[in-house]
Amino acid sequence: MALVGLVGWRGMVGSVLMERMRAEGDFELIEPLFFSTSNAGGAAPAMAKNETKLQDAFDIEALKRCDIILTAQGGDYTSEVFPKLRAAGWNGHWIDAASTLRMKDDAVIVLDPVNLPVIKDALAKGGRNWVGGNCTVSCMLMGVGALYKAGLVEWMSTQTYQAASGGGAQHMRELLTQFGTLSAEVKALLDDPKSAILEIDRKIVEKQRSLTGAETANFGVPLGGSLIPWIDKDLGNGVSREEWKGMAETNKILGQGEGFNSPAVPVDGFCVRIGAMRCHSQALTFKLKKDVPLADIEAMIAADNQWVKVVPNTREATVRDLTPVAVTGTLTIPVGRLRKLAMGPEYLGAFTIGDQLLWGAAEPLRRMLRLLVE
Ligand code: HSE
Repeated sequence: MALVGLVGWRGMVGSVLMERMRAEGDFELIEPLFFSTSNAGGAAPAMAKNETKLQDAFDIEALKRCDIILTAQGGDYTSEVFPKLRAAGWNGHWIDAASTLRMKDDAVIVLDPVNLPVIKDALAKGGRNWVGGNCTVSCMLMGVGALYKAGLVEWMSTQTYQAASGGGAQHMRELLTQFGTLSAEVKALLDDPKSAILEIDRKIVEKQRSLTGAETANFGVPLGGSLIPWIDKDLGNGVSREEWKGMAETNKILGQGEGFNSPAVPVDGFCVRIGAMRCHSQALTFKLKKDVPLADIEAMIAADNQWVKVVPNTREATVRDLTPVAVTGTLTIPVGRLRKLAMGPEYLGAFTIGDQLLWGAAEPLRRMLRLLVE
């Protein structure tokens, strides 16, 4: 049985990963070795079999014992440990949730329902580095990957509505704290059905503008009752790093663009943080290479994988099935609002949602592990 080192299993992504691995019986196929950055020597969790003590996550010799290492510890850990481990001659498989290694030539961004051929090709060539994609990109491709696989996409524009969880656990707490503060600010007025809505509105914006310190420590500005149209670093050319990832990662996942034989498909748009908890949503505009009937497009998308679900483009179905609240905690990737746009028959609109902790983070990693150990 492969000895699999697990790092960062206690954090938010790591906890979702452990939950999914338990649910799918992954632990029955591996010998887990649990690592810790702070509690080496402590007791490993219940899934441990023979290796019941936590190992030091910075101990290169301990890490070298593993056939496979699966980490959700974060980018700083990867930057510090991965080069040392490879320099020490470790030749095992490194599966990583962090973005650090994603765009390296010898790393594959794993999303097997979309890019199994790319993964298999890399495996056959001795690939050892497997990295989970940006959550927005992975969720988008799980939904509309069929259009890319069919070579139908001339370009795609994305407008995202990204949840607080993309920033991390503290960001989710901060959002809820802000909602609570704002609600408390106008409680008396809300309790009085005759109070003036513009008075409530004035008090809310005053409070939002006065939020500072601990209440905006993570997002920097209020998110509750507002939005933030910038995610990740400023690349200095008017593009956010999150927006840059859209094109770079989509193409890399599909095995096209730089370093591959087929040209990159242009992908661009705006990435926006909104007050949802853990589902990333996105409105997509496609320019297709040809006019394909809408019914054929719906059928292609629906047949692509077992998790995608085409939501009929009606008000009733949309408000029921195409919201973060409906999708949270599930592996379902709904794709709805499918319609041809006024610009012409090659222009297609769509709206899709994914749980950014499941398909956006944990699920592709555990599925890569399965590919290696089965
Ligand atoms: N960069 C994403 C976000 C996290 O901030 O929402 C998922 O990769």
